[in-house]
Amino acid sequence: MGIKNVAIFGAAFGDEAKAAICARLSNSGGFNFVVKYTSGANSGHTAYHAGKKYVHSLVPTIDFSRSTHPSGYIGSGCVVDLEQLYTELTSFENDFHGVSRSIYLDKDAFIVTPEHKRLDKEKNAHIGTTGKGIGEAYSDIVNRRGMRVADCFEPGSEYYPIVNKLESLGLNFAYSLQMREKFEKSSIIFEGSQAALLDLNIGTYPFVTSSNTVMAGIHVSGFGFAKLDHVYGITKGYVTRVGNGPFPTEFTDEAFASEFRNKAGEFGAVTGRPRRCGWLDLVSLKYAVQKSGITSLILTKVDVLDNFDTIKACYSYENYGQEIYSASALKDAVPKYIELNGWKNDPSFDKYNSVEFRTFIKRIENFTDVKVSAFTYGVGPNDIKWID
Ligand code: IMP
Ligand code: MG
Repeated sequence: MGIKNVAIFGAAFGDEAKAAICARLSNSGGFNFVVKYTSGANSGHTAYHAGKKYVHSLVPTIDFSRSTHPSGYIGSGCVVDLEQLYTELTSFENDFHGVSRSIYLDKDAFIVTPEHKRLDKEKNAHIGTTGKGIGEAYSDIVNRRGMRVADCFEPGSEYYPIVNKLESLGLNFAYSLQMREKFEKSSIIFEGSQAALLDLNIGTYPFVTSSNTVMAGIHVSGFGFAKLDHVYGITKGYVTRVGNGPFPTEFTDEAFASEFRNKAGEFGAVTGRPRRCGWLDLVSLKYAVQKSGITSLILTKVDVLDNFDTIKACYSYENYGQEIYSASALKDAVPKYIELNGWKNDPSFDKYNSVEFRTFIKRIENFTDVKVSAFTYGVGPNDIKWID
């Protein structure tokens, strides 16, 4: 297909089922590397490999069940809990022996310490963090006292035993520039974690994660040399959020929300927390697209909306209109909705080809000014349709 590099990240508050897209793309045979460029063990990417469910947290989302699969690279912009990486790799090793040899960890990445996790749990309940020490580790970086993976190789480092164990497992330690030639010959998927509205700078601050989840994060990881052909923003046909912070289109009827959540399986992959659910918010989606440089959208989990007579989408805020210039607006935005006909009664039975479904897609495209490139309607490898 002649595509070289693509980026994938969430266009809302995370959990947009990015992993399913990443796994499908990486299975297409066209990609040699999947690079995790931001964050740490706060992300939980759920994917099904050979029919079995796996959660990737630090290990990039790759289907290891395939005899040829891309390699994984954990970039220098990440914060890495080495013990958790060991646990995650050993569990993949159980099913896919030798798999660690296809994973690289950048020696310029910073580590997350037990103290970071302790402080995160103690201090950040009001934000609703994952407790994985992310903000504390990034604070140390900004305060110029962080510890890099490379430092753990110093004789006498208390982390030497764990890097040694990781090395014995087969994990590769590298610098991205050492591999530059290899990367330039490769096609790379830059796999984002969290999402645009959780980005430290462009998200709903302070209810955000502590890193750049959008394209800027790719540069932070030292991949400024990699040209991108597509920047895919992933969004569900509705919105979810875990943790605290503004969410204008959140369902207000608790019974309805709970039924929706159960049906959609909206519980956190890392923490098991119930996710807050709500209707698609076109205004904040447009903000995310424009601010983060998304070139097209991929819509996920549209089957969750299959049985609705009408589907709502927010097209304007009473107090801001159809456009916002800062994510801060979300804290008091009052949504106005359009109601669209659902596609459940489509007489042709080809529901995703129905006028109703196509209208839903068109609305999103017209509003955001970018194309919807694909949509998914299940977890199976074939439950995706690319739109030409
Ligand atoms: P932290 O990243 O653990 O510091 O958490 C900051 C905020 O980001 C909290 O609201 C978390 O719930 C949210 N968050 C972090 N990682 C994820 C994720 O992978 N999916 C969804 N939300 C996340
Ligand atoms: Mg997740």
